[in-house]
Amino acid sequence: GDLTGQDALPFRPRVIAHRGSSGDHPEHTIEAYRQAIADGADGLECDVRLTADGHLVCLHDRTVARTSDGHGAVSTLTLAQLRALDFGSWKTGRPAAVLELRELLELVRDAGRPLELFVETKHPNRHGGLVERRLVELLRHHGLPAPGRPRSVRVMSFSRLALVRLRRMAPGLPLAFLGNGVPLPHGGRLPAGAQAAAPSITAVRERPGSVRRLHDAGKEFYVWTVDEISDIELCIRLGVDAVITNRPRLVREMLDG
Ligand code: G3P
Ligand code: CA
Repeated sequence: GDLTGQDALPFRPRVIAHRGSSGDHPEHTIEAYRQAIADGADGLECDVRLTADGHLVCLHDRTVARTSDGHGAVSTLTLAQLRALDFGSWKTGRPAAVLELRELLELVRDAGRPLELFVETKHPNRHGGLVERRLVELLRHHGLPAPGRPRSVRVMSFSRLALVRLRRMAPGLPLAFLGNGVPLPHGGRLPAGAQAAAPSITAVRERPGSVRRLHDAGKEFYVWTVDEISDIELCIRLGVDAVITNRPRLVREMLDG
């Protein structure tokens, strides 16, 4: 067969842009996500938090201090207050607005090609499941996708409780269990309903055999945050299903040659 180009690789992981193309652009802004699409990402990753007035916004940290010119916890600020802040200048010197999850869903919908969306719930244990409820409402509103559909959404969390709640609220929604230190926390079992494990690259370097075990169990394997060339090569060699990266263009180029 053809040993050049795509066929030369045993397996091609999906390329998921972590907070957008956040290596060079302010994370979680429309600019970073548009760049990720231009960079050839197969999907986009985002973290979600709830504002004081109940809107889901794409932000990682508990407070806005690191990524904006404001201060205070996201959960104590209204959407209008967040809209008054600049989330771009800290990174590039150019102002950028906070991004609502609703807007990111619209970007994915209107991208002109199939894109996956990996949504991570933060502070999932607070507000008695309100984050999960709002998320499911929003996804339903935008047409909650079935697994395997082109424009599919999956939800990830470090919290088993969040995944249990999501499974109850939206039984068909694909879920992934995030792990920090080791590929498979809690004795190697995934929470019921989770189709994937999503460990850190550090954990994968230490226990590369876990990819095979997960695949044997019929589960998928996503790895974050894969930015170094040697780590990208490792993920390709191991046959992971998706690499979550701040540098989607680099990964795309390595995959496509
Ligand atoms: O994609 C998973 C990864 O983003 C988890 O860690 O801290 O970047 O949200 P964090
Ligand atoms: Ca995340």
